[in-house]
Amino acid sequence: MNNQNSTQEVTLIAAASENNVLGKDNQLIWHLSDDLKRFKQFTLGHAVIMGRKTFESLPKALPNRTNIVLTRRSDYKAENAQVVQTAEAALALTKEDPTPFIIGGGEIYNLFLPWAHKIELTRIHKVFEGDAFFPEIDPQQWKLIASQKHPAIAERDFSFSYLTYQKNH
Ligand SMILES: NC(=O)c1ccc[n+]([C@@H]2O[C@H](COP(=O)([O-])OP(=O)(O)OC[C@H]3O[C@@H](n4cnc5c(N)ncnc54)[C@H](OP(=O)(O)O)[C@@H]3O)[C@@H](O)[C@H]2O)c1
Repeated sequence: MNNQNSTQEVTLIAAASENNVLGKDNQLIWHLSDDLKRFKQFTLGHAVIMGRKTFESLPKALPNRTNIVLTRRSDYKAENAQVVQTAEAALALTKEDPTPFIIGGGEIYNLFLPWAHKIELTRIHKVFEGDAFFPEIDPQQWKLIASQKHPAIAERDFSFSYLTYQKNH
């Protein structure tokens, strides 16, 4: 799918387990403070597009970012966020942003995958049970351009990797 602005880089940013789990009961499963810091570094000052369920899982809109919430409800109100009903309307609000971020959850990653140019994925090297899933990354369509592994430590029993994928042209 062509993006409206050819210089814009729509980026999916997510943390997913080995079996693509993102969360359970509308919450995150693991606590990884390094990853939260990285998420903040990437997204500060940018537009962040999220589903209504992810918005409701947050204590409040993410500060110092343009929060955009997708819902099919026409009467939905979200404090400190803009509410839209379609992916196209969400992207139209990000026209001035060279790097808008799609921040989840599962339904919204799936919806935006065709528009995405980049994926910043934190792969948690463990299998978790959950009810929201990151889409499969098709190796024909996506090229891994950076990878950085972090070993397990005493405080957490899993290793994880920061993986950057770029869409093949
Ligand atoms: N690990 C991570 O990186 C990460 C990141 C974000 C979220 N999460 C987790 O993911 C889970 C939530 O994900 P989820 O898949 O259940 O929900 P979600 O993607 O956050 O939100 C789903 C909602 O988005 C709206 N929506 C979906 N498709 C739409 C469309 N085509 N047009 C308009 N609106 C649309 C609908 O809202 P209405 O029902 O209001 O119509 C739908 O119920 C939570 O557990 C959260 O903690 C994890």
